[in-house]
Amino acid sequence: MKKMLVFSERLIYSISMTALILLFHSCGSKNEIKREKNDFNQDWKFILNDSPSYSTTEYDDSQWRSLNLPHDWSIEGEFSKDNPSGVNGGALPGGVGWYRKTFSLPESDSLRKIYITFDGVYRNSEVYLNGNLLGKRPNGYIGFQYDLSPYLQFGKVRNVLAVRADNSDQPNSRWYSGSGIYRNVWLEKMHPVHVDLWGTSIKTDNVSEKSAGVELSTIIKNTTGENKDVKVETRILDRNGLVVASQVNEARVDMKNTLELTQKFLVGTPELWSIEGPYLYKAVTTLSLGVDKLDVYETPFGIRSFAFDSEKGFFLNGMPVKILGVCDHHDLGALGAAVNTRAIERQLEILKDMGCNSIRTSHNPPAPELLDLCDRMGFIVMDETFDMWAEKKVEYDYSIYWDVWHEKDLMDHLLRDRNHPSVMIWSIGNEILEQWDSTGTIIARELTAIVKKFAPELYVTSGLNDPEPSNYLYKSGALDLIGFNYHQETFEQFPEKFKGENFIASETNSSLHTRGMYDMPSDSIRVWPIRWDVPFYEGNPDNSCSSYDNCRAPWGSTQSDTWKLIKKHDYLSGLYIWTGFDYLGEPTPYQWPSRSSYFGLVDLAGFPKDSYYLYQSEWTDKPVLHLFPHWNWKEGQTIDVWAYSNFDEVELFINGKSQGSKSRQGDDLHIQWRVIFEVGSLKATGKNKTGETMEAIINTAGPPARIELIADRENINTDGTDLAFITVNILDKDNNPVPHADNLVHFEVPDMVSIAGVDNGSQTSHEPFRANYRKAFNGKCLLIIQSKNIKGNPVITATSEGLAPAELKLVMK
Ligand code: GAL
Repeated sequence: MKKMLVFSERLIYSISMTALILLFHSCGSKNEIKREKNDFNQDWKFILNDSPSYSTTEYDDSQWRSLNLPHDWSIEGEFSKDNPSGVNGGALPGGVGWYRKTFSLPESDSLRKIYITFDGVYRNSEVYLNGNLLGKRPNGYIGFQYDLSPYLQFGKVRNVLAVRADNSDQPNSRWYSGSGIYRNVWLEKMHPVHVDLWGTSIKTDNVSEKSAGVELSTIIKNTTGENKDVKVETRILDRNGLVVASQVNEARVDMKNTLELTQKFLVGTPELWSIEGPYLYKAVTTLSLGVDKLDVYETPFGIRSFAFDSEKGFFLNGMPVKILGVCDHHDLGALGAAVNTRAIERQLEILKDMGCNSIRTSHNPPAPELLDLCDRMGFIVMDETFDMWAEKKVEYDYSIYWDVWHEKDLMDHLLRDRNHPSVMIWSIGNEILEQWDSTGTIIARELTAIVKKFAPELYVTSGLNDPEPSNYLYKSGALDLIGFNYHQETFEQFPEKFKGENFIASETNSSLHTRGMYDMPSDSIRVWPIRWDVPFYEGNPDNSCSSYDNCRAPWGSTQSDTWKLIKKHDYLSGLYIWTGFDYLGEPTPYQWPSRSSYFGLVDLAGFPKDSYYLYQSEWTDKPVLHLFPHWNWKEGQTIDVWAYSNFDEVELFINGKSQGSKSRQGDDLHIQWRVIFEVGSLKATGKNKTGETMEAIINTAGPPARIELIADRENINTDGTDLAFITVNILDKDNNPVPHADNLVHFEVPDMVSIAGVDNGSQTSHEPFRANYRKAFNGKCLLIIQSKNIKGNPVITATSEGLAPAELKLVMK
């Protein structure tokens, strides 16, 4: 329903306007009621227990634990093979937990609409205000909002918000989910006439260097019970806050309805959003009645054009771009599922440094912070909604709620995410079982119709694991982009079998690696490691997988095999490697005592594995010379030495003796030497025809002698959430990293900061993530420090029996 009125002076002074001015006069804000979005994460009470009385106002929660959100109770638990989540769910506890928050609001707020927004609660949340049920939301990854206004009390009377999260029906996930209010919570206050939740939709068209069309639709909500004639002014601001286009309209917002208003703009010589230059504009929409501003609503956006071509692949702003992506689950390693912006940013920085330019949010709606970061850092996003539809994959998964909730969940996911310039591909599902039956066609069409309704620009895909034209999802004709999960052996048949269709390798590889472990001979491909069915089998005493590119799942490929193919053909528009980071759960190919995955190019603690450098050497212009393995073997042992390098030639030396100069042969992505181990030094020298050189040296390490601490950033914000990720290296007396060091390291931190977590990247460790100690794993561990609201220079101390201690000073600004 669209209504536009010519704005007239007369209307401003209409009776209803006068009434509104009088009504708001008492709030003392010069008749203005500003939109506020307040962080509502502080001072909650929590209990891991269940009772109907917890929802009531009277209940005395003084004995409950006090905490701040986001919070994941599972990550605080103990690993056990008996936890019902199973190893695939991370072997950590689930259960039912309650959160309560007592708060008061000033009388003046009674003139506003007050909403509470949850970015995600795992799972089956129920939210109560002052004993009244506001709603239930089964989906653990979707954001949702409730109107608190009907039940709020103002002034001195206190309100109690109570949230029940039920993660007791297990297994309900194929990976670690986390439990509780693990994403941010916001209290939003606004004028009764305001822009609706996720109420704008922005599109750009005719994008060129000269100009771009921008179309903004705004949904205005009127809860006053009277018709309102509002002025809607939108200004488009560039990065420096300069207005580059603007428009004013007048509109009558019906008392019972929302109004959708469309405004069109032309931006001259736009700065385009790209991977290298993710330029962001902002549409600032102001609603006003006469001189009073009712609402100011911001829509960040980017100006870019994108398209897939069945022969030439993907284009961004008219230029061909290979999608160099990874799939990632949502957990943040030692921090569990609890959202932390810096932790997500660090993951993206590590991936960007590898040359990665795209993220697939496998297999669920991501944290909003991830998309904000992708917008700012220049990642293309494949935003994925579902891992299953009506047919279940594990006993208590989302299929239970499919019939009632899928439409609403998909719609809300789209409304929330569609304006992000990073989001270009929408996945309606991963490896959906209905691809093998005719209901797949019906559901795919239904879901695509929803995507097209709310975000017509986006390419709809689905990760298919049956790469045949007979696939029911393919046959639906609903997919703009045919997503292949694995089956790289069929990629080259694509143009013939799927004539005229666009291709994306939506999930690839499932190569398996443990950081720092090397199974030789390196050129014998292990489809699984040698034994995976016996825990801690004698020949493989540590449930590890090889870090040479020689270990993979049977359905997957080595790192090099898939990339070689994708690289070769333009029509193969790109790939999403399973996975960027190791994640909690799914420790394929092992069972207990393993409890986290082996698929990552980077381990759970954030330390790159060797394969990371294969991609870095291929996907970036940086000079790369990555030499491995370590240099601590038995005298006389035959060792395969590899280098990932983009130098024209690499010469290897053992104790100064050349082992030959080599270049990559054919389509090989690494250089290899088979040598006899001698204690001493292994050195590689990279040389380019241009004369550029680089050196890499690995020395045989002696026994562990000292600890080294290296912070990812030394300046930390005192906002109570910022983090310092401190790498802990175990070195010998000559400062060489000790490859298999597993020393137990203790940390001491002053009160002005806290320890948010510890880790070492081992897939089998059962040490707690919340502790002031950690054993090193293959020479390294990680300490995560969190800021409090205190400025200063905390000194972090690390000690370990028999080793020289280390200190590190941080700057809290
Ligand atoms: C895929 C699946 C992923 C993960 C992966 C492990 O088939 O889509 O979620 O399970 O296998 O190899």
